[in-house]
Amino acid sequence: MTKVFIQTYGCQMNVADSDEMFAHLASRGAQYTENLDEADIALINTCTVRDHAEHRAVSFLGRLAAWKQEKPGRVIIFAGCAAQRLGKTLQKKYPFLDIISGAKEIEHFADTLDASGLFNAPGKDTHQLASGLTGYVTIMRGCNFACSYCIVPSVRGPVKCLPTEDILADAAQKARAGAKEIMLLGQTVNAYQFENTSFADLLNQVSRLPGVERVRFTSPHPIYFTPEFLEAIKDNPKIARHVHLPVQSGSTKVLQEMKRGYTREIFLEKVRALKSCGFNISTDIIVGFPTETEDDFKETLSLVDEAEFFAAYCFKYSPRQGTPAAKMKLLPQNILEERLDILLNKVRGLSDAAYQAQVGSVQEVLLESENKGRASGNFWVKTRKSYPVGSVIKTSIEKADGTLLFARD
Ligand code: SAH
Ligand code: SF4
Ligand code: F3S
Repeated sequence: MTKVFIQTYGCQMNVADSDEMFAHLASRGAQYTENLDEADIALINTCTVRDHAEHRAVSFLGRLAAWKQEKPGRVIIFAGCAAQRLGKTLQKKYPFLDIISGAKEIEHFADTLDASGLFNAPGKDTHQLASGLTGYVTIMRGCNFACSYCIVPSVRGPVKCLPTEDILADAAQKARAGAKEIMLLGQTVNAYQFENTSFADLLNQVSRLPGVERVRFTSPHPIYFTPEFLEAIKDNPKIARHVHLPVQSGSTKVLQEMKRGYTREIFLEKVRALKSCGFNISTDIIVGFPTETEDDFKETLSLVDEAEFFAAYCFKYSPRQGTPAAKMKLLPQNILEERLDILLNKVRGLSDAAYQAQVGSVQEVLLESENKGRASGNFWVKTRKSYPVGSVIKTSIEKADGTLLFARD
């Protein structure tokens, strides 16, 4: 039996893509293994959003060179966003790569496998990688924005929304396989529109599928959160009360130079509207964009205070070849490091405060183990009693400790 080892870097879209690629390998007779040593195929699904992410994926190739030398019949598949960016240069530098399949090629992955001549034993095993309680469902590929720092549109291409019917079939299949929570995925996921189906329609439809207890989504873009959207979903308790809403900067001037399409004020308005429907908000922030002054950075700090994010992922700006911002003069690294430190210090207290604020509230918890689960707002909750994994309970919260809530159940 051919065994495949999978290493996935990057965002949840890559996790979903790895699932999809595995399904094609499985239907050609491959079985999943977590152990590289016993594998015959290594699939690396890569990210290139920051230089560091790409570097990690490419470094892994060094290890795989030795792995392949041990048994030359082994197969290496290099896929995803870094594969898309580096393309042919990879084959020259790493001649031992068997298949290079960029992120834009995912829809043709099956043909790529067949064309390679390496998989001539048709198998019947079409099961997917066990994604546990959360089923990841891609609803759109690519991105139509052109944020000046970002390489994603160039490696993923323009937006293509998947047909609603296919999405519902995919989610229903994952629910039948045991998923209780469905996570809808896209780079600007809330821009989804397919014929007459809007993103709000889709969320409501997925939430009604048998077995689906909760629907999440990532990453939305602030400009698509309209009053109409909130009106359409606000009474549906199955839509999780957590939104990951990347802001990138708190300075309107920097946001304009980043080409984000909103101002600080518009972003804060969206945050207030989402909060009024009970949504808990996390974000992404970039520090040290080339034109970011000390004052701009202070605006980011004050926005973090005003928005009261529940969590924030903070990144040092990383120039990506071919993007407009890559032509701008970089700020000195020590400034980036200083700003990141200051921001991280501020952010550290945010989760604790958000968890403390839940004491006394009633939460609906989806159990991910017998006595620990996640509330709709994405808080971790520890229960007193034990429950079957995958069940949903309602409980009040008696205390918070760091990033854990304790239930009174
Ligand atoms: N589509 C999402 C983000 C996708 S990329 C959105 O628009 O919100 C994930 C995160 O990586 C971004 O939110 C941003 O914070 C970060 N990122 C993207 N390009 C970057 C770069 N060149 N340098 C540093 N961080 C970057
Ligand atoms: Fe990148 Fe902007 Fe598209 Fe997000 S919206 S993927 S940051 S270009
Ligand atoms: Fe990385 Fe590609 Fe996702 S660049 S963040 S894996 S879309």
